[in-house]
Amino acid sequence: GNGGNEPSVTLGFNSISGSKTDACVVPPGYSAQVLAPWGTPLNSDASPWQADGSNTGEDQANAVGMHHDGMSYFPLNGSSTDGLLCINHEYIDSGALHPNGPSEENGIRTIVDEVRKEINAHGVSVVRIRKENGKWNVVENDSLNRRYTGFTEMDIAGPLAGSDKLVTKYDGTGTVARGTFNNCGSGESPWGTFLTCEENWPGYFKKASGRTAADERVGISSNNNRYRWETAAGDASEVDDEFARFDATPSGASAGDDYRNEANGHGYVVEIDPYTANSRAVKRTALGRFRHECVVYGKLEAGQPVTFYSGHDGRFEYLYKYVSNATWSPSDANSNNRLEIGDKYLNDGTLYVAKFNENGAGQWIPLVPATATTGGSTLGNDIGDQEDIILDTISAADAVGATPMDRPEWIAVDPVNGAVYLTLTNNTQRTDNTNAANPRLNNAFGHIIRWMEGGNAESFNWDIFVFGSADDADANTNLSGLTAANQFASPDGLVTDPRGILWIQTDNGADEVTEETNDQMLAVIPSNLVDDDNNLETVTASNQAELRRFFVGPNGCEVTGCTFTPDLKNFFVNIQHPGNWPDTDNAALATAGDVRPRAATVVITKDDGGEIGI
Ligand code: FEO
Ligand code: CA
Ligand code: CA
Ligand code: CA
Repeated sequence: GNGGNEPSVTLGFNSISGSKTDACVVPPGYSAQVLAPWGTPLNSDASPWQADGSNTGEDQANAVGMHHDGMSYFPLNGSSTDGLLCINHEYIDSGALHPNGPSEENGIRTIVDEVRKEINAHGVSVVRIRKENGKWNVVENDSLNRRYTGFTEMDIAGPLAGSDKLVTKYDGTGTVARGTFNNCGSGESPWGTFLTCEENWPGYFKKASGRTAADERVGISSNNNRYRWETAAGDASEVDDEFARFDATPSGASAGDDYRNEANGHGYVVEIDPYTANSRAVKRTALGRFRHECVVYGKLEAGQPVTFYSGHDGRFEYLYKYVSNATWSPSDANSNNRLEIGDKYLNDGTLYVAKFNENGAGQWIPLVPATATTGGSTLGNDIGDQEDIILDTISAADAVGATPMDRPEWIAVDPVNGAVYLTLTNNTQRTDNTNAANPRLNNAFGHIIRWMEGGNAESFNWDIFVFGSADDADANTNLSGLTAANQFASPDGLVTDPRGILWIQTDNGADEVTEETNDQMLAVIPSNLVDDDNNLETVTASNQAELRRFFVGPNGCEVTGCTFTPDLKNFFVNIQHPGNWPDTDNAALATAGDVRPRAATVVITKDDGGEIGI
């Protein structure tokens, strides 16, 4: 049952049609405004963004990064018109970043400042934004504006702090890592910090020899990395150390002489205190090391541990939760020493991986040395101590028989009843071995699974909330009875608001849906879907009209990241990798196909000034 909680709101808009234009589309009575596109200066050390791509690496270090993804609005003094937007920048489009694409000769990057610009376009932006006369603007030169980039020094906290597995030529103490990469989804802590997640970081490193079991399992390549930044390293020049580190092949006598451990400083949830200028980011290793998509805390209860959920976005990868040893003190939400509160809850706790059983029950399996493996041994024997288990979280999860999922992406917690929702974006490589939680072969459309925590830390109960589909797919595929008004594929971003509205964003991969609409954001109120006995229901043919399309993005983009002001009158959504947007008001450029695309945040408001969605 849903505990007798009554839904407090109903959706106040009709589903909009699919769209395939170079524009954002919202329901009648709503407007969308572009805010903080890639390259927006945060301070006067950055030149204004240049449409010819000529901004320097130094400009980029002082301007909004590229390919916006997860984000959070942090109000200043509780304000809904003045706050800090923390924006993840997942990756780069190097064709759009530079005047003429990335320069290279024989596989060697030839322009060092291009590489510097690429590294600076990654990471996180903290941006002061303010609404004046109905329009949101970036407050340039605000003292809280700042960038965390692929160069920024960050602290290592939790089980791997000080580990010899993190010792490098740069840091002999194992307590510092440089930069954060591929920051995809995100979350917030209950104490007012931003939690940014390192997703496809293994692709930034290579290791021609000496790969460990953990390196191989997480996918660090022996022969290739994404942007070949290490090739910009000169011979013993000042740039050597900054760029050479992306080649993690052992070259010296020991770990302190080379970069063999460089990638061990990546793969974490990273905590940022947006409210404190110049504060250092902290990598929270206790939450595990994998391709973190996002991180979300469970329903809070005073005197109980704090739970965080995070999924590993990979085909056949796993869902995890972390449970703090410290119990929740509501007064911690009001502390100004936010990173110390983070130390309290995020450094000591237990990491679990999920096993979804066939009967709708589930099990959280603790990833600690004493846990039995399916092979009849223990994690302690097979993997090692807690440090080793964290460093190679995924192998530990393999060993205990966790359930391989169809690419876990974002997670959202229903504030009404504590139910937890997870997008499983797609998995077209599931050609056999379905399981009840991932029941479709060739899962091109994806689905959203849901669970409620059970009577103890190791049990839960789950069902599948909705299956993505094209509206004209056969009944074996269109299992939720979707129509033209709500067909979707590849659910990815997922957020609940305080009223219990679940917002679903797509990163579409299925032709049958992309033929009909660009990527989109839909809304549904799960707690309104109850049967006669007041039990929560899933989306079915009889109630699917409760799932409504609210927003459609421009051509070529993914819609990802969603946050709102406390009054729920301003929703911020990110447009990532648009094809020909947002400068489409320049008709001559648009016709020529010469618009330099810019990922950007879009602010959605209601023309009558009311709350969004109702
Ligand atoms: Fe970066 Fe899993 O989406
Ligand atoms: Ca994503
Ligand atoms: Ca995705
Ligand atoms: Ca993406």
